[in-house]
Amino acid sequence: MKIALLPGDGIGPEVVAAARRVLDALALPGLVLFEGDVGMAAYRRHGHPLPAETLEMARAADAVLFGAVGDPEGDNLPREHRPEAAILGLRAELGLFANLRPAAGWPGLEHLSPLRPELARGIDLLVVRELNGDVYFGAKGERTNAAGEREGWDSMSYCESEVRRIAHTAFAAAGKRRGRVTSVDKANVLETSRIWRETVVEVARDYPDIRLDHLYVDNAAMQMVRAPGQFDVILTGNLFGDILSDQASAVVGSIGLLPSASLGERTTGHGTFGLYEPIHGSAPDIAGHGKANPLAAILSLAMLLRHSLGREADAGRIERAVAKTLGDGVLGADLGGTASTEQIAAAVVSNLLSI
Ligand code: NAI
Ligand code: MG
Repeated sequence: MKIALLPGDGIGPEVVAAARRVLDALALPGLVLFEGDVGMAAYRRHGHPLPAETLEMARAADAVLFGAVGDPEGDNLPREHRPEAAILGLRAELGLFANLRPAAGWPGLEHLSPLRPELARGIDLLVVRELNGDVYFGAKGERTNAAGEREGWDSMSYCESEVRRIAHTAFAAAGKRRGRVTSVDKANVLETSRIWRETVVEVARDYPDIRLDHLYVDNAAMQMVRAPGQFDVILTGNLFGDILSDQASAVVGSIGLLPSASLGERTTGHGTFGLYEPIHGSAPDIAGHGKANPLAAILSLAMLLRHSLGREADAGRIERAVAKTLGDGVLGADLGGTASTEQIAAAVVSNLLSI
């Protein structure tokens, strides 16, 4: 079993180090770890945010645990050298088209949510976000318009096969959950969304036991705070999924709690090859202060063990250790507490060993 660790920038190395302590505590037999440079850290050392050797390391592994990329200095670089190009490059090069972002309320921890407890209690949803297409990967550029102003443009598109494969992921996931898919689009104004919706309806015919409904993205954003308990699987594109999953993180408590898995089609012998990362970014505002919440990274490790290494029991142990840590009130600044990254990691390790 090979795991590539790509810590990246800002709080990325801090939260990946915390997840690594949890991984070390599991003492998995036959596990080999590699560590590679990515993002601004890689640009400074190799002149590129995604060096060829990092990509090779990721390809050769069964799974990748990724921290975050992004740095204020990177904002002035050309787009292909910006640290964020590394994560887009990894997703594209590794064919990671399915991004799974679970968000569930923690039993007994409804007070962490800004919503009323009766609303927070019911949250148990999975955002299935398409990751290889949409406006993030379309042609883009800058031009001068007729009035002589600078004008930025980005093109949004989805073809049927791209929608079909992510729709299958969502319907299959719903079959293992509560049997409901809500497809989110903006089909009232976008051609991309019209193809999206028609294709999802076609795929749904293969899953007669799954209930499908559709929401426009603006309504979905409203429903997410008004009645989040109605959602089981939310199927959506790259842009809407990015925004809705950050919102989902806020309704369960904090962005520092939400993990993600990005999966493609390649299997590993133990599961599916994937890249796992917290949904948050490099948080330059708190980097270096030891106060990043490492739980999203630790829960990403749990997803890695489940989906890529077939170690469901270990994944469940980590999740129970995290729930106990939160239940004991070991909370980071993002949740109104004072625990440091290291204190939170130490509490998870200690709970893990006593479970
Ligand atoms: P962000 O997620 O880094 O931070 C948003 C807010 O949440 C900040 O106030 C931050 O302090 C807080 N926060 C985030 N993670 C936290 C944690 N684990 N514990 C406690 N507080 C936490 O998003 P932002 O500020 O929009 O972006 C910062 C940089 O990260 C940018 O360069 C952006 O491009 C990059 N980014 C990278 C991503 C990736 O690597 N996949 C994803 C999102 C953003
Ligand atoms: Mg985001």
